Amino acid sequence: MDNSLISELAKALEPLVGMSAAEAQKLISKPQDRSHGDLTFPCFQLAKTLRISPPECAKKIAAELKLPAGISKVEIVGPYLNFRFDKGSVIGALVPQILRDKSSFGRKEPNHKKFIVEYSSPNIAKTFHVGHLRTTLIGHSLVQIYKHLGYDVLGINHLGDWGTQFGIVWAGCEIWGRPKDATVDSLVEVYRLAGTLKKAQEEGKLSAEEQKYPDVTQMARDYFIRLEAGDKAALEFWQWCLDVSMKYFVTMYDRLGIKFDHYTGESFYRDMLSDVENKVRSSGILEESRGALGVDCGKKYGFARVFAEDGRSLYITRDIATAMYREETFHPEKILYVVAAQQMLHFQQLIEIMNRMKHPVGPKMVHVSFGFVPGMKTREGGGISLKDFLDEMKDRALEAYKNEVEKRPEGTDENLIAEAVAIGATYFYFLSHSNVKDLHFTWEQALNFQGESGPYLQYAVARLNSIEVKANESGVDRSLFDASQLTEESAYDLASLLAQFPTIVENAGRDYEPYYISQYLIEVAKSFSRAYRELRVVGEDVSKELSSSRLALFMATREILVAGMNLLGIPKIERM
Ligand code: ARG
Repeated sequence: MDNSLISELAKALEPLVGMSAAEAQKLISKPQDRSHGDLTFPCFQLAKTLRISPPECAKKIAAELKLPAGISKVEIVGPYLNFRFDKGSVIGALVPQILRDKSSFGRKEPNHKKFIVEYSSPNIAKTFHVGHLRTTLIGHSLVQIYKHLGYDVLGINHLGDWGTQFGIVWAGCEIWGRPKDATVDSLVEVYRLAGTLKKAQEEGKLSAEEQKYPDVTQMARDYFIRLEAGDKAALEFWQWCLDVSMKYFVTMYDRLGIKFDHYTGESFYRDMLSDVENKVRSSGILEESRGALGVDCGKKYGFARVFAEDGRSLYITRDIATAMYREETFHPEKILYVVAAQQMLHFQQLIEIMNRMKHPVGPKMVHVSFGFVPGMKTREGGGISLKDFLDEMKDRALEAYKNEVEKRPEGTDENLIAEAVAIGATYFYFLSHSNVKDLHFTWEQALNFQGESGPYLQYAVARLNSIEVKANESGVDRSLFDASQLTEESAYDLASLLAQFPTIVENAGRDYEPYYISQYLIEVAKSFSRAYRELRVVGEDVSKELSSSRLALFMATREILVAGMNLLGIPKIERM
């Protein structure tokens, strides 16, 4: 709101100050001391051109200026022109609109353009690590943001469900037998054991017992070749791994409130791989290098192997097929790949290949990369599985809730609250830093009820709910809303923040950075806290009109908080 007023003011100044609106806008600032007004414009520059004194210049402009709507007053203070907003009219339009639109405030009309957000994409039979958690949370938020911006969004989970890792697990199961009542953890354990054996075999460091085992690398390779050829036993084993893993993932996604439109993993494209070879070949860029087929991606990205020496498909082969399929099937405007920065080169090569093929999908592909999450450890100090992480977050959430919130409402299920706090804390923490930065995780920060955290936002909403309940009990008459009642600085500050919501969401979408929203919501919650300290809704000295107007402002604040939390995936808690 302030920003649009600034540009309106600059336009109004343009004909009087001998400079363009853009130049004038650069000179307009907010005075440190708000008693001097809401905006200020210095007249030194123009005074020089006109060869008059700055105060005289200020007088001349003030006399001729037509104030734009939203600005009610201009004052001359020496060489400065100070402006005051017409707070009543600004808040008067904004608050009722937010209350009407609720969490769709600022939501754009459908634009019928398709956006694909590919995210999460864990590997079957390998560990779901914190990097996967980070893509899961960023991706989920981007899906919500683009929906809000009017796009037709498809959230796709590109499962790592094809590749030599199945061969490793296969080899392990051949050697030690399939685990009974297998879970994801037992598959991962077999993968780990077989991987360690493979390494020992490569290094020739084997115990007497291990000497007897067959060669894991060879077994894995043979298995994968059989799998690609459609061998029945190989497929049956693969399906078994997939079923065991999916059961686990889906429970985790449910817990995080995530639904994918498609679970089309790498295996989905397995019949399209020969077509990849044909298409890359016929575009004339397929070359042979040291027995492997691939594409020369230039000095910067090097030679990208597309098929291994023995003809096996590779990770990138399946990505080429995927990109082609998505273009043909969905005609998307853009495809976002939310994947860790370690895979930077992979995506540079992939996009380069599509561009060199002159395939229309090339320019639409964006790698939304993100940094590491170092230091994420459980109480026992070990690495982390997603379930253990969420469970521990929940235990700690319950503890923090009991310590931090003294007056807890009766008749609520503290277990449910703890789960919602845990999920909210996780989403917020992972979405409170720019993607490009590494994320140094600490439980204390994630669960800090007083600090910049998910629980802090959830608590603000619960407080607003109880303000509403109390106002209703005291019979506050909502129809008496009158924005001109809201004269205090803190009310206006809060309202101007609320007005920024649509722009913040747009910018977050433009830069693929949900953290713009998390930072913004903290500002809103803090500004609400400040305002609420000063502006009581119910009280003897508060008139009916004032009660109604303040309540409306606070309820609008709640709508914006909830809208923003929805975009981040943070569950709201009615009472806490
Ligand atoms: N499954 C991969 C991994 O965990 C991530 C997949 C990324 N997406 C892609 N289209 N390559 O490393």
